[in-house]
Formats: sequence, structure tokens, C-alpha cells
Amino acid sequence: MGLEKRTLKIIIIVLLTLLVLGAVLGLILGLLLNQRYVELEVWPRSDEYTWDQPLIQFRPSDTGSWHHWYKRINDFLRAYETSIPEDPPRAPCSVHSRHDSSMRSSNCEMAMRLWAPCIVDEFYGYNIGKPCVFLRLNHIHYWVPEPYNVSTRLAIPTEMPEHLKQFMIQRPAQTFGDYIWVSCGGELSSDKENIGPVQYIPAGFPPGFPTSRLHTADRIPYAVRHVPDQVPPPLIAVLFENPRREVLINVECRIWTRDIIYDPSSRVGRARFELFINN
Ligand SMILES: *[C@@H]1O[C@H](CO)[C@@H](O)[C@H](O)[C@H]1NC(C)=O
Repeated sequence: MGLEKRTLKIIIIVLLTLLVLGAVLGLILGLLLNQRYVELEVWPRSDEYTWDQPLIQFRPSDTGSWHHWYKRINDFLRAYETSIPEDPPRAPCSVHSRHDSSMRSSNCEMAMRLWAPCIVDEFYGYNIGKPCVFLRLNHIHYWVPEPYNVSTRLAIPTEMPEHLKQFMIQRPAQTFGDYIWVSCGGELSSDKENIGPVQYIPAGFPPGFPTSRLHTADRIPYAVRHVPDQVPPPLIAVLFENPRREVLINVECRIWTRDIIYDPSSRVGRARFELFINN
């Protein structure tokens, strides 16, 4: 009888311990999953935007077919409107065309020239079949990036695009600060052919996000990590100068940092979308 009682006790203790352990594990997992992955956002995006089939399709000669993309970019850029843009500006500073000059300060006018042709005056290139998309980082409050630079002796990966390496050498991080480098290209070999030349805007500036302007975990107080940013993060525009028409082009954009290992099946620091430009 006494032995049975003891067995029962042991069973209850074991069960309770398991329950507590399970709860603690669940809590930890829940917290971890809540810290969402470093996302490279692509704009414009439609209401039906999904990871699997984000399609940007239009016919340059048909205003009605691209006007909603143009409008979506304007809606997105409205959060960046300012009459005193930074140097270099983090985004196009106006969604009002130059004819509406009362809406644009002379400082903004200068900043808009840097962002051309990815600006409202040029319909972001959609009217001539040379579209711009905008990229920015999201969910970075818990991220401590390890940027690529030539200040450390750690190797730069050979597969890094040549123009990024050039910028890294010409603008050493010690003087010009670190960047989260960005590149876009065709996903498959046919896409690499069809995509044509790609330019990063503002032209002449490093194709990437300056870490000094990113609210990463190492740059914000611990207490505000869960608070949304007051100022939206800096942008990069990608200009497709001569994408082939009447074919679906799979575009992949990614960031380059030491801590995010490239994986074509991962969404961390990587974005993809499809471009289809009708004739
Ligand atoms: C250069 O890269 C290393 C490794 O990612 C990083 O620790 C360092 O802060 C970066 N910047 C400079 C100026 O060294």
C-alpha cells in the first residue's frame, strides 16, 4: 500500500515537472517566433501580395494598366515627404510633380534630381517600360548586422557582385560608414538574360542601406525595441533599364551581410517578385 502511494506521488511530480517544462519551452519558442525575420520589402505591392506570386504586370502604352502601380508607389512614398531632405536623401522627398512647385522646396528639388528617374515626374518609369521598384528593410529592431567591409580581414565572398566590391573599396567603412549591401538580378539563367541592365538609385551612391540610419538592435535602446519607428527606414530604388517584354521575369533581390547566409529557399533578407511587361 505504502509503495503504491509513493509511486503515485512520483508520477504526479514527474507530470507536474513536465507541465512546467512544457510551459517554459512554449513561452521561449513563442517569444522567438515573435521576433520576425529581417525582411527585405519590395514596393509597389498589390493587395493580393504574397511571397509566392508577387507579380508586377503592365503595358507601358496603356496608362490604365500601370496607373495603380504608380498610385501605390505614391501612397507608399507619402510617409517620406519632407521639405528638408537629408544628405543624401533617404527617399524621394515629394509625391507631387514639379508642376506643383508650391509643394516642393528647393532642397527637395535637388534631392528629387538624385532620385530621378525613380520619381513622380517620370511616373517611376512605368510609362516607358523602365520600371522602378523600391526596397527597404523591416523587422530589424532585434537584429545586430555584421556588415561586409574591407576594414576587417575576414574575406569578402567571391560571388558578391563586382560593383558592390568596387564601392566597398572606394568608400572604406572607416570613413564612409558601413552599409547593408543590396543587389538584384534574374533568378534563373533565362531571367538573367531577360532582366537587362539594372541600376541602383540614387545613382553614384552605394547600393545599400547605411547602417547609421538603420534602427538595428545595436543602435536603439533596449526598451524601444517593440516600438515602431517614427521615421521610416531608408530606401533604395532599383531601375530596370531594358527588361525584355512579353516574358515573365523572376527577379531576386537580396542583402549582403556576414551573418545572413544566402539560401534560395529562405525569406530572410531576400525578396523575389515577377515582372511582366506587355508590348
Ligand atoms: C566592418 O565589418 C566588421 C564585421 O562585420 C564589423 O564588426 C565592423 O564594425 C565593420 N566596420 C568597421 C568600420 O570596421
